[in-house]
Amino acid sequence: MSRDRVINEAEICNKAEAFEAYDDIPKNPHLGDTIGDVINRRYGRRDVLRGALAVSATTALFGATALTSAQQAQAATGSFAFSEIEGGIDQTHHVAEGYDADILLRWGEPIFAEAPDFDPMNQTAEAQLQQFGYNNDYVGFVPLNEAGDRGVLCVNHEYTNEEVMFPGLGRHDKVPFASTTRELAEIEMAAHGGSVVEIAKGSDGKWALVKDSAFNRRISPLNTQMTFSGPAAGHDRLKTSTDPAGLSVIGTINNCAGGITPWGTYLMAEENFHGYFWTDKLDAEGDPILDEQTQAASMKRYGVPGGWYAWGKHHERFNIDKEPNETNRFGWVVEVDPMDPNSTPVKHTALGRFRHEGAESIVNGDGRVVVYSGDDARFDYLYRFVSSGRISGDKAADMQLLSEGELSVARFNDDSTLDWLPLVFGQGPLTPENGFDSQADVVIDARLAADALGATPMDRPEDVQPAGDKVYVMLTNNSKRKPGDEDAANPRPENLFGHIIELTVPDGDHDTSTARWEILVKCGDPSVSEVGAQWGPATSEHGWFASPDNCAIDADGRLWVSTDQGRGWARTGKADGLYGVETDGELRGSSKLFFRVPVGAELCGPYFTPDQETLFLAVQHPATDGTRDFPGFERASTFEDPATRWPDFQDGVPPRPSVMVVTKQGGGKIAV
Ligand code: FEO
Ligand code: CA
Repeated sequence: MSRDRVINEAEICNKAEAFEAYDDIPKNPHLGDTIGDVINRRYGRRDVLRGALAVSATTALFGATALTSAQQAQAATGSFAFSEIEGGIDQTHHVAEGYDADILLRWGEPIFAEAPDFDPMNQTAEAQLQQFGYNNDYVGFVPLNEAGDRGVLCVNHEYTNEEVMFPGLGRHDKVPFASTTRELAEIEMAAHGGSVVEIAKGSDGKWALVKDSAFNRRISPLNTQMTFSGPAAGHDRLKTSTDPAGLSVIGTINNCAGGITPWGTYLMAEENFHGYFWTDKLDAEGDPILDEQTQAASMKRYGVPGGWYAWGKHHERFNIDKEPNETNRFGWVVEVDPMDPNSTPVKHTALGRFRHEGAESIVNGDGRVVVYSGDDARFDYLYRFVSSGRISGDKAADMQLLSEGELSVARFNDDSTLDWLPLVFGQGPLTPENGFDSQADVVIDARLAADALGATPMDRPEDVQPAGDKVYVMLTNNSKRKPGDEDAANPRPENLFGHIIELTVPDGDHDTSTARWEILVKCGDPSVSEVGAQWGPATSEHGWFASPDNCAIDADGRLWVSTDQGRGWARTGKADGLYGVETDGELRGSSKLFFRVPVGAELCGPYFTPDQETLFLAVQHPATDGTRDFPGFERASTFEDPATRWPDFQDGVPPRPSVMVVTKQGGGKIAV
């Protein structure tokens, strides 16, 4: 669908909604099963639709404990010791009783000693480059001392919401074309990327920014030089007029989630990079004309050019008519050494090019490093990278580990097993006859390679978190499921609310070609049997959730999940939030609500300090998503008239995406 039609038909009001609506990139036509197809075939579509799975099927899926009654489940003691908050939505955040949730860093906050104060009416790119960026998403923490009361916080800034950032832009009719001037475009660019900042705990137990720390750094698509490693580095398809060697690139964009590596570096995943590329060649319907593009098939599969930002009008490298290869230089995982503010970040092409949601890693028993990553688009795939080398404890050597290894993609089988299919040039269909001339082609066109291998199209893989012999896969939703997946008894497509899959790797080995899989949570309101109840033990009144997105494992091995429903919150009546999700015992699959965000926001992070006494949360895009559905507001937010002015609540100060820090009153481990 063209960007113009997306905007008009979907009545999109902001970037978040635009990214969602544009998510129907043409995909591999043959396509294997969706995960829903597999589930339906395994358990019988009719049984699912009746809302009464056969006992044998339920037991097979969840084990006998799934048959525990709701009453028993409620009476049982879960592993999360906190009193659940109420679901709902209003203009501010809420945290469980007995906890403090404080603002640590706001968009525009100066992060250098000499940085100018935030002045939203007179913002400049130069000022923004010295201030905390917009739309904080991933948060990671690297301790700087044994006590753990000093550390470096690594934060991604995923994208910008111009309508509430800049005065006078009004409603979405100027989005995605808000970058109408070079000045505005460069402020947007400066607000993207990442921040690395030192924080320290004061004698009052509160964390605060260390503004004059030598660690502090802004990373942006405007001026941060990066290099490439791996099989595509130096390849012709990475060469541009400003980089004839194909070895260096300026910046990173749409950094969603990420990870902290076992050797203490910061991984930034590049997600919806397609949205930043521009063309002047549009047909009558507003669709890009790619006839003259030699890489048109690849561009189509990746949704390039998305045209959500008009940076290409002011910076030729974002215009595919001028620099078609620039698109191949985004969609990677970037590694940053947060201990060296002068270090050059590296884009690791061995991990493949797609819409990386995140990049969480684990050290395998044999010392190899394994990185899991979802490609967040409807019907796209789950990937795994295994390093060739083994971790050594020498940081400089370990920082080479992501440069060489094997990328593979998941095929979910009907019998609860999963196969990892290697994306290796020359193997199977990944040959010149099918358009792959080298391993560089395989990683640049990882989606096309995965199509050829018959990977399983998933319901939008978001965060993927390994922990011990488990891997938790957040599948947020998929509103484009084929009509056969819907039914009158279940008028909502079953994938509107997403689900969570748990993989178990054999003998704790993350480097084998197989794993077992099981659904941990089928999300949605459990009182609607087709949606929720039959998929797991009944959960509490406010504990169920929709659209799992980011997740974390705390020091006690417990799973925490944050949500991003987009406009879907109007369906659930609940703002996005953070849920503790049981993975073991009688309550396996049930959850409790710990924190919720203000209207229009989604919740990212989450990240626990190693002592589990501090939880970092990222409240992203307050006041933007679905505010037309907000009771008493019923319109799209603008700079002048936002649905909330969280967190400052001062006239004239726009809503500000912020990182929060949650601690227990009086100290101690969270939820223990
Ligand atoms: Fe940036 Fe898939 O969330
Ligand atoms: Ca996300």
